[in-house]
Amino acid sequence: MSPSDADASAADAGADASAAAGASAPARGSIRLEGIRKTFRRVRGAGEHTALDGIDLEIPGGSIFGVIGRSGAGKSTLLRTINLLAVPDSGRLVIDGEAVDGSRRSEVAGLRRRTSMIFQHFSLLASKTVWENVALPLKLAGVPTAEIDRRVADLVSLVGLADLAHAFPASLSGGQKQRVAIARALVHDPEILLSDEATSALDPETTRSILELIRRINRERGVTVVLITHEMSVVESVADAIAIVDAGRIIEQGPTWRIFSAPRHPVTAELVRSARHDSRSDIEASVAQLPPRAAHRYVARFDGTTPVDLGALAADARVLAGSIRPVQGHSQGYAVFESAAAAADVAERAARLGVVIEALDPPAPARA
Ligand SMILES: Nc1ncnc2c1ncn2[C@@H]1O[C@H](COP(=O)(O)OP(=O)(O)OP(=O)(O)O)[C@@H](O)[C@H]1O
Ligand SMILES: [Mg+2]
Repeated sequence: MSPSDADASAADAGADASAAAGASAPARGSIRLEGIRKTFRRVRGAGEHTALDGIDLEIPGGSIFGVIGRSGAGKSTLLRTINLLAVPDSGRLVIDGEAVDGSRRSEVAGLRRRTSMIFQHFSLLASKTVWENVALPLKLAGVPTAEIDRRVADLVSLVGLADLAHAFPASLSGGQKQRVAIARALVHDPEILLSDEATSALDPETTRSILELIRRINRERGVTVVLITHEMSVVESVADAIAIVDAGRIIEQGPTWRIFSAPRHPVTAELVRSARHDSRSDIEASVAQLPPRAAHRYVARFDGTTPVDLGALAADARVLAGSIRPVQGHSQGYAVFESAAAAADVAERAARLGVVIEALDPPAPARA
């Protein structure tokens, strides 16, 4: 390869990384699962339970990837195959383009350093301070004290706990404890951060701040994040792409905004509906107390690809309610509007403009 070829391919690699990570971080930390199967012997009774039933998955380096699914779907097992805490019965794990089969101890030790994990319950040592909890893995690895001090100071400040470095876990809130766990997970400068329901024990506001921190770590340090959760709302704000797992199989995957705007599998559709409260009956209920001021009431759906101009659907459109949020730059949601125009005309204009609308039942007029 000539120097100019090398430059060109380096530039391409950089462009790919920035497309995935939104920064100039290197595209390390890519993960590929090929035909992964994992069975467990049943605790009671005979036979086996198939937890993972042929998982094929490609997670680009530098991305945030969400794995969603109902309880018992196989999410934790899937995550644990990425650092070989769960050893697959068959299939291949490929990290950074290299197959890792766990046959050599040194290989597994190396993998565990490159893939850190955080959990719902933070598993901090109660008898050690924030600083000591973060420093411990480095001490155990025999890292020189000056280097430990430098790295712990950097991480404690990254997670916003510099003022609490000498506090003990018992005096911290849930969100602060998770910040300590995140700092500790980063001590070996991992390529991949595996998060197993890391926000499930936290209130919505704390959840948002932890997700914000995870996103910053991804963008600033180029760490690939695989985030598993049973809550669609958690992946909505941070994940570049999502896979939905059900009964040990991936039933759907794609960019987050696409999954939210057009779920293809009924299980996904149900997860999206329950996260957004935007089923027709939810919307009808939300505007039921508004007395009708025009003959017809509609909901227009915004999928983030088709522009929706309510005035072009009905010149007298009056908005009653709505919810629109950007997901990966695609503004999605709905608006409820009323109009006195003939229903057939509104339907015809919507069809022509490619806008999805549904006619809602107007609320029953109040009895005199
Ligand atoms: N060590 C194990 N021994 C036996 N069965 C297991 C083991 N780990 C998981 N399973 C079974 O495999 C299936 C998938 O479990 P897993 O923990 O991966 O699900 P999950 O999607 O993470 O669920 P949750 O949302 O409840 O955490 C379940 O039926 C579970 O009972
Ligand atoms: Mg789990």
